[in-house]
Amino acid sequence: MGKKKVKSKKEVPEKSRKTKMKGKSKEKSKGAEVDSFSKLSMKHGLHNKKLPFRERLIEQLKGSRFRYFNEQFYVSSSTDAQEYFRQNPEEFKAYHDGYEHQASMWPVNPVDEIIKEIQRRPKVKNKEVIVDFGCGQAKIAQTLDKDRFKIFSFDLVAVNNYVTACDMAHTNLFNNSVDIVVFCLSLMSSNISDCVKEANRVLKEDGLLKIAEVKSRFERADDFIRDMDAYGFVLLKKKLNDPAFYYFDFKKKTKISKKRKKKLPELKLNPCLYKHR
Ligand SMILES: C[S@@+](CC[C@H](N)C(=O)[O-])C[C@H]1O[C@@H](n2cnc3c(N)ncnc32)[C@H](O)[C@@H]1O
Repeated sequence: MGKKKVKSKKEVPEKSRKTKMKGKSKEKSKGAEVDSFSKLSMKHGLHNKKLPFRERLIEQLKGSRFRYFNEQFYVSSSTDAQEYFRQNPEEFKAYHDGYEHQASMWPVNPVDEIIKEIQRRPKVKNKEVIVDFGCGQAKIAQTLDKDRFKIFSFDLVAVNNYVTACDMAHTNLFNNSVDIVVFCLSLMSSNISDCVKEANRVLKEDGLLKIAEVKSRFERADDFIRDMDAYGFVLLKKKLNDPAFYYFDFKKKTKISKKRKKKLPELKLNPCLYKHR
């Protein structure tokens, strides 16, 4: 159990084999060695041998399905992913159920860390505007005090009423209208540069950008910080000592001029790929 290749026909649902997301082939992508989501969950009990056989089997099938879509995300553009999930919303639900299940095994879920940090911010007169890009279940909007914060939660598919379905690379938010942008484990698509450009566009000057990502996706955190500078963001704070995740706070220092847009380095993070066994 659990030793089959990920793309073996038995593991991949019939429908997704026919209409899988387009994008770069994963053979060409440079990827983090193992899917870190699964690795973390394995460490914390997802593959718990004490579970009855049937339950273990169901868990592992759900896990395979989740890992398949997770991998597809990292090698597809956000446009392709959005189109795929628009046509197959039930697959998005399966992906999210799998994600939530895996995340429930982690000792710390980064979204909870981000919520705590935002809650600790000093109270201000007017409501702060937060945009949760790639919000999943919109836990931030569901948890934070609505008297203090106005929260927009975007994801490719709306899994509940808190979420607005949209590609975060292209939103209808006004320029310079947002106090805090959050990317919590959501810089997934192959065009993350577009998502960061969008964050720069919507953030007010001095606005805060909070990023949490899987540690193994970074070759060198310093390279990422340097590239973010070119996108108009200056580092305020980093936390690199967590065993699984990196956390960054950036401040928007400048907008990206049209002239500068053409010269930006492409932002790249390793995809979380499977170890093909
Ligand atoms: C790993 S989940 C994390 C969800 C949530 N941020 C959390 O921490 O609970 C990443 C989410 O980002 C979303 N996502 C990735 N790229 C996106 C894009 N271009 N536009 C909107 N959502 C995106 C995925 O659909 C997925 O729901």
